Amino acid sequence: MQMDKSRLKEQVGIIRQAFGYINQFKDQIFVIKIDGTLIANQFFPILIKDIVLLHQMGIRVILVPGARNRIDEVLATYKIDCPTINGTRVSPPEAIPFIKMAAFDVSNKLMTLLAENGADAVIGNWVRARSIGVRDGIDFQSSGIVEKLKIDIIKNVLSDNLIPIFPNIGWSATGKPYNLSSNELAFNISTEVKATKLFFVTDQDGIRGNDYKLPANIAQSDGMVSQLTVEQAGQFIDLNTEAHPGELLEMISFAYRACINGVHRVHIIDGRAEGMILKEIFSNRGFGTMIYSNQHENFRAMTISDISEVLRLMQPVIEDKVLVPRTAADLEEKVNDYTVYEIDGTVHACGALHVYPEKLGEIAAIVVDEMYAGAGIGKQIILYLIEKAVKLKLKQVFVLTTQTADWFLHIGFTEGTVDELPESKRESYNRKRNSLILKYKISGRRTKNSY
Ligand SMILES: CC(C)(COP(=O)(O)OP(=O)(O)OC[C@H]1O[C@@H](n2cnc3c(N)ncnc32)[C@H](O)[C@@H]1OP(=O)(O)O)[C@@H](O)C(=O)NCCC(=O)NCCS
Repeated sequence: MQMDKSRLKEQVGIIRQAFGYINQFKDQIFVIKIDGTLIANQFFPILIKDIVLLHQMGIRVILVPGARNRIDEVLATYKIDCPTINGTRVSPPEAIPFIKMAAFDVSNKLMTLLAENGADAVIGNWVRARSIGVRDGIDFQSSGIVEKLKIDIIKNVLSDNLIPIFPNIGWSATGKPYNLSSNELAFNISTEVKATKLFFVTDQDGIRGNDYKLPANIAQSDGMVSQLTVEQAGQFIDLNTEAHPGELLEMISFAYRACINGVHRVHIIDGRAEGMILKEIFSNRGFGTMIYSNQHENFRAMTISDISEVLRLMQPVIEDKVLVPRTAADLEEKVNDYTVYEIDGTVHACGALHVYPEKLGEIAAIVVDEMYAGAGIGKQIILYLIEKAVKLKLKQVFVLTTQTADWFLHIGFTEGTVDELPESKRESYNRKRNSLILKYKISGRRTKNSY
């Protein structure tokens, strides 16, 4: 019975979270590049079904199917040799009819599956391209780069509630076709249409921490780098391009450039498992790697309307007797002391700094949503509250804790005594609870960066 109750709670939590995201993403544009190799995967029809669900929710979806392996197959069948140099295919003009055939074949497969799921789609020729030309002495012939997109037409297609599909072919002003990189095409589309999100749905894992040189302070979850700020992505590219040239680095480079150019988030996800795209969007603690530009993880002051959500977050920790019980009235009375950590309109962590006349601050009510544990959010809250204490010119902060002492010690707190507590706190110090007193000296500290 207990088990059922907690499962129900978890499910309700997920549903609430999903509703929040649905409202937030309605009418926003998601560009989804799908690796062509996934078409043969058993979960591919489910991936398309999930994409149709997004479309039906009011998200404006643009699809860019990758056709690299299909092109390989067709060229091999017709015995046409097109070498690939540094990841770019050299496309002689005589190969172009076959490359077009393969690219449209893949797009048609997507179209068919979309139709099976009741979504209307259209394949278009909305990309103006030009030749890559000669680079380092190599003539890439009919391999091209995106010159510009017919944005007005694409926007009309989206507002007609159709899903536009972009095969990886572009045409010059005179109608000459070029073979494009679908990763680059997806990147270009995402910035031109001002997409909120760009997805690279691939047939590989995201970034495995052990395989790469990582910039400092990168949180990992089960050995995977689940998120990088745009700055960290830039450092990651510098650290790894030489040792790991390849598609993952290419995608991270496009992700970096997309974020610099206004796309909020880029998700590199493994499309070989079921439901990955929904997990990534609706939990935002997905299983791929997210590169983000906006301050998606936001600290802000708690407001009265956050109180019910904060109490819900605290509830399991209070039940475990890790946190002293608090009521809505308690929180309302000290509303200005609380900071919340919001992701996509939902509160996922909280903490408080209570200020005492002795210029001492108490850090309290630190809770991080279990779904987001281990990503460094707890530490960030503490640093944020310490920064707040610095601004308030407090001398020292302290925390009373029964079960989390090691964590605070790890962050840099040291053991304190009852005598170091503010007078009113000394009086109410609950010896029965036997909390440990930990302190963090502030005087002499300079800036946020020094923590
Ligand atoms: C403690 C808590 C705030 C940490 O949040 P978080 O965002 O997961 O923390 P971080 O990502 O910054 O740090 C994670 C690290 O702390 C460790 N950690 C988590 N809880 C710990 C605890 N009670 N004691 C010691 N270490 C702990 C994790 O194992 C992890 O270690 P790793 O980096 O070596 O893998 C969170 O687990 C929580 O909400 N706990 C329940 C409430 C609580 O204890 N509040 C503090 C009392 S005021």
